[in-house]
Amino acid sequence: MHRHEFLQRLHAVLKPRTYLEIGTNDGRSLALSRVPSIAVDPSPKIRTKLHCDLQLVTSTSDSFFSGRQPMGHLMSGRNPLRNARRGRPLFGAYTGSNRVDLAFIDGMHLFEYALRDFINTERFSSWSSVVVLDDMLPRNQAEAVRERVTPSGPWTGDVYKFIPVVAAHRPDLITVQVDTQPTGVFLVFGMDPANTVLKDGYDAIVQEWVTPDPQKVPEALLERVEAVEPEALLGSRIWPVLARRRRGRAAGLRTVRGELAALRGY
Ligand SMILES: C[S@@+](CC[C@H](N)C(=O)[O-])C[C@H]1O[C@@H](n2cnc3c(N)ncnc32)[C@H](O)[C@@H]1O
Repeated sequence: MHRHEFLQRLHAVLKPRTYLEIGTNDGRSLALSRVPSIAVDPSPKIRTKLHCDLQLVTSTSDSFFSGRQPMGHLMSGRNPLRNARRGRPLFGAYTGSNRVDLAFIDGMHLFEYALRDFINTERFSSWSSVVVLDDMLPRNQAEAVRERVTPSGPWTGDVYKFIPVVAAHRPDLITVQVDTQPTGVFLVFGMDPANTVLKDGYDAIVQEWVTPDPQKVPEALLERVEAVEPEALLGSRIWPVLARRRRGRAAGLRTVRGELAALRGY
């Protein structure tokens, strides 16, 4: 399954109320959103018809997140009729719903950028948010170099390093590799906006993991040993639980953990 088909179907099953996209390019992933959205790209070249209430931010993600109220666009105003027209919670101005339900991190394909994008996105998440990172399963060592050789054609860079780093530093997060084409996606569940472990450890993590080319992608990632089938994941019971967001964090995340364990066969 191509990543855009996966994303399209993820929107349908998760039913996010808000969407954040880092790295938009020609707008093919952004075109899948139907809800209040923010898209961040220093040089967007949108050629696709869009269908959402959008703030397009023409800057790097670091600059976007350093702003005073980066997620302001996702917040409802005080006028319930205007909120209804824009597909926002009617009284969201009073309930403070500026959280990102679904985020797609697909900006600069260097490990430290993806790590910062995740750290910053988590600050604006809730327990039921889902973060999708693209290009996490390179197909060969050449695709994973930090110095891009050809300006067009597949390039994952070394963002795959986020997978072992999250496993080592944030065992509280629930993650799954997904066997999408061409270069795999990685989903993170159970966001905790108060957690600062990655932010506090950022310098040491970067020092350990940012290494000159060539990169040595672990065989298990190249072979997608732990990656689940996109079809099976999309059909799991995870999504209705997250979409309803009624059962509370502990029960919801128990379902996510149990369903992913069943998909992986252990
Ligand atoms: C692979 S493309 C995004 C593709 C798009 N998400 C899709 O699926 O159709 C990556 C984009 O990231 C943007 N980008 C590069 N550096 C960035 C940064 N520091 N912050 C945000 N976006 C960045 C590039 O301009 C490029 O358009």
